[in-house]
Amino acid sequence: MPKIQRIGVVGAGLMGSGIAEVHARAGLDVVVNEVSQSALDAGKAKIEKSLQRAAKAGKIADADVDATLGRLTFTTDIEAFADRDFVVEAILEQEQAKTELFGRIDEVVTNESAILASNTSSIPIMKLGMATQRPEHVVGVHFFNPVPVLPLVELVASVRTSDDVVARAEEHVTGTLGKTAIHCQDRAGFIVNALLVPYLLSAIRMYEAGFASAEDIDEGMEKGTAHPMGPLRLSDMVGLDTIKAIADSMYDEYKEPTYAAPPLLMRMVDAGLHGKKSGRGFYDYS
Ligand code: CAA
Repeated sequence: MPKIQRIGVVGAGLMGSGIAEVHARAGLDVVVNEVSQSALDAGKAKIEKSLQRAAKAGKIADADVDATLGRLTFTTDIEAFADRDFVVEAILEQEQAKTELFGRIDEVVTNESAILASNTSSIPIMKLGMATQRPEHVVGVHFFNPVPVLPLVELVASVRTSDDVVARAEEHVTGTLGKTAIHCQDRAGFIVNALLVPYLLSAIRMYEAGFASAEDIDEGMEKGTAHPMGPLRLSDMVGLDTIKAIADSMYDEYKEPTYAAPPLLMRMVDAGLHGKKSGRGFYDYS
């Protein structure tokens, strides 16, 4: 089987832009797709900022910034994915939007050996696979934010994913991208979010109950357990809308109160307080 060279990324938000960046940094040709030109421009700006940050830190040479950007093509036309070897979906965490998109990707990708991957953290891979005519080629490839910094990728096979597709995806993320892969079953939240999200929700409940200030909750976990970020700051970074969507998927799957979104989280999401990306969450970023 030829090596994965041509990448397609759908979604240029926090995760999609990071996924596109790490592939371009690995020397691969990347097509990034979004629904609008403004979303594409915002994604491109995030990648440029991150590359400049990496260059400033001496992680890449200045010349690599332009070379990396040169390997990225930004388009609103998903038909540009026809020849892609590896497509990663990184759109919002909504089952219907994702299944419709997988149906569309299946129609446009003519390369029969292509791997169709999802960066979902909580929606069953089986549902995405069944939206296509090739569920054996559909696999969960879940990155962590910030993608250029965090080394982990969760690989998730549905009951229909072929072993060969999992092996090729693993070779790609470890060999080509230099990430560490862990495997897990097709269960909402996989390994990391199944453990992390109940912890973040507990912190939100603690704050909601007036136990302590956001700063003290965060400082407690940063200084007391050496976490790089406290739970409320981390929730703001991940996005409160994303946390709520993951919590809802896990609650649907397991029906356990530990996964239930607290009312404060629901109200903040309704109010458009989605964390760092919206300028305000538990903290103000304006
Ligand atoms: N993009 C690219 N690079 C970034 C970055 C970004 N958004 N943020 C930080 N960096 C880089 C910096 O360039 C810096 O690199 P050098 O050390 O080479 O200079 C390095 O990361 C550290 O950055 P800073 O010194 O500015 O800041 P920091 O030490 O406070 O680290 C952090 C920032 C990397 C975000 C760190 O706080 C951290 O790891 N936080 C926890 C992140 C985490 O838990 N992520 C998982 C979220 S869950 C998820 O993603 C899954 C899901 O489905 C919800």
